Amino acid sequence: MISERKMDTAAFKQATRVQWDSAAAGWDRHGPEIRAWLRVPTDAMLKMAGISAGQTVLDVAAGAGDQTLDIAERVGAEGAVVATDISEGILTHALGNAARAGHANVRTHPADAEDLGLEDASFDAAVCRLGLMFLPDPLAGLKEIHRVLKPGGRFCGMVFAGPDMNPCLRILMSTAMRHAGLAPRDPFQPGGLVSLGKPGLMDGLMQRAGFRSIATTRMEVAFRLPRTADYLTFIRDSAGPVLQILAPLDEAARAAAWADIAAQLDFYQVEDGWIGPNTLLLTAGRK
Ligand SMILES: C[S@@+](CC[C@H](N)C(=O)[O-])C[C@H]1O[C@@H](n2cnc3c(N)ncnc32)[C@H](O)[C@@H]1O
Repeated sequence: MISERKMDTAAFKQATRVQWDSAAAGWDRHGPEIRAWLRVPTDAMLKMAGISAGQTVLDVAAGAGDQTLDIAERVGAEGAVVATDISEGILTHALGNAARAGHANVRTHPADAEDLGLEDASFDAAVCRLGLMFLPDPLAGLKEIHRVLKPGGRFCGMVFAGPDMNPCLRILMSTAMRHAGLAPRDPFQPGGLVSLGKPGLMDGLMQRAGFRSIATTRMEVAFRLPRTADYLTFIRDSAGPVLQILAPLDEAARAAAWADIAAQLDFYQVEDGWIGPNTLLLTAGRK
């Protein structure tokens, strides 16, 4: 008999898949803005994972493949990247982007990060950029990554820090939930945007998954755009979790929610642009 928890998890995963399939084109379209925002932490993540020429690298929750292309460049023609994601739709963008950039060493593999369906000890290194926090059981995901790494292989995961250090995410989620008539949720509840942001949580999970030499680096990377409206467009086009909360509302109620969100985000509009504070945690370890 399937347990109630297993059913809930299966429904959550299916909702995640649908949500990111529909946000896929938007996430891809905003690739240049995401790239500018995450340029410095992505370089740090690849360095902390020890990515180098000739390696076979696993990219978990790869999305439209922005970081996949960086990995492909670094491992070169002798190496390879396997981009996995629960959303098959978003991986078609990753594959298209890799082909356009001339990287023949990228392969996609639709898979839930908690059940990768890849061979044991088959990767030299692995990364996951802004994906682990969406897992209902991040420990299971980390154990899977550990399983497929070769002995000595390194992993680096990037997640959002807690809600106090990510006020724009806090505004987005709490306002969307209030307008949707949902009770405030514990921000650290598994599967949420900032769920892995509690200090020490990622290190503890990595340790339990079997990693050693674990270290976390905190990076402040403001999201800089010309105007509040540009950030709203990005969120409305691509932020699966927020769109999912607002989806059941009728058009007028949804418009009211977006107007409320816009008014609060306008706080970050300054003379030379919109600067949304944002803090990330990068945790690395070795098998
Ligand atoms: C914020 S996007 C990040 C995409 C990409 N890594 C980037 O930084 O541009 C989050 C990604 O996590 C994926 N995802 C969510 N839950 C997942 C799961 N259980 N297994 C694999 N991927 C998952 C989504 O489909 C989405 O592509």
